[in-house]
Amino acid sequence: MSDDSRPSPASAARTAAVIPAAGRGVRLGPGAPKALRALGGTPMLIHAVRAMAASRAVSLVVVVAPPDGTAEVKSMLDAHALPERTDFLVVSGGDSRQDSVKLGLDALPAEYAIVLVHDAARPLVPVDTVDAVIEAVRDGAPAVVPALPLADTVKQVEPARTPGDPEPVVATPDRSLLRAVQTPQGFDRATLVQAHETVTSDVTDDAGMVEQLGLRVVVVPGHEEAFKVTRPLDLVLAEAVLARRRLNDGF
Ligand code: CTP
Ligand code: MG
Repeated sequence: MSDDSRPSPASAARTAAVIPAAGRGVRLGPGAPKALRALGGTPMLIHAVRAMAASRAVSLVVVVAPPDGTAEVKSMLDAHALPERTDFLVVSGGDSRQDSVKLGLDALPAEYAIVLVHDAARPLVPVDTVDAVIEAVRDGAPAVVPALPLADTVKQVEPARTPGDPEPVVATPDRSLLRAVQTPQGFDRATLVQAHETVTSDVTDDAGMVEQLGLRVVVVPGHEEAFKVTRPLDLVLAEAVLARRRLNDGF
C-alpha cells in the first residue's frame, strides 16, 4: 500500500471490494467450502479476487473467509500473485451471507468511499462489468446492480408443503420487466453501512437492503460469465469458460 493512510478527495473516491466467501457450498455437494475448491487448478476465491483486482480502480480486497479457514485463505492469497496496486485483508465470516458482508464492511479502513460486494462464487466476472458498476456509482447512484434479462419465463406459485408435489400457479410476471441480478454490486459506502445497520429482515442481495431504505437502486448490464457457481453443472460451465479463455489467449 502506498498512500492509503491519507484520506482522498471525493473526486478520487477510493474503491474497495468485499468478497463474501464464508459459505459451505451445500448445493455443490460434499467437499471443501465452495470458495476454496479448484477451478482450472486455482481456488475459486483466487479467481474472484483477481477479477476484482483486475479493475484499476480497486485498491483493496477484503475477503470474508470461512471461520475455520481464515489461516488457509491468508496463505492462499500470499501464494497467488495479485497486481502491485492491490492490497488485501482477510476477516472471519458469519452464519449468513448478510452477516459475512457486514463483518467485511466493519473491517474497511475509513478512506474507502465506494464499496463493491462480490460473491466468491462468481469467479469469472469480466473486468468490464466491474468497471461499469464502479462508474455508475461514481456518476452518483447510491447502489448499482449488474443484471441480465431472463431466458426462462417465470411463474409465481403457491409453494407445495411437500417438495415435489404439484404447485398451483398464482401469476406469470411480464418477463420483459424482470432481470436476474449478479455481483459485483456497487455502493456509496455510507449508504451500504446504513442499510446494514437498519435492515434486519433476511435478504439475498445487498441492493435489496438499500431498496428497503427507499433509496434509488439502478441496474447496469451484467455478463453471462458472471454466473454464480451453485450446482455441480455450474462447475462444468466454469471449466469450459476457462478453457475458452485459454484458447483465445493463446491465439
Ligand atoms: N457466503 C458467506 N457467508 C455465509 C454464506 C454465504 O460469505 N454464511 C457467501 C458464499 O461464500 C458465496 C456468496 O455468499 O460466495 C453467495 O452465496 P451462495 O452462492 O449461496 O454460496 P454458499 O452459501 O456457499 O452455497 P450454498 O447456499 O449452496 O451452501
Ligand atoms: Mg448460500
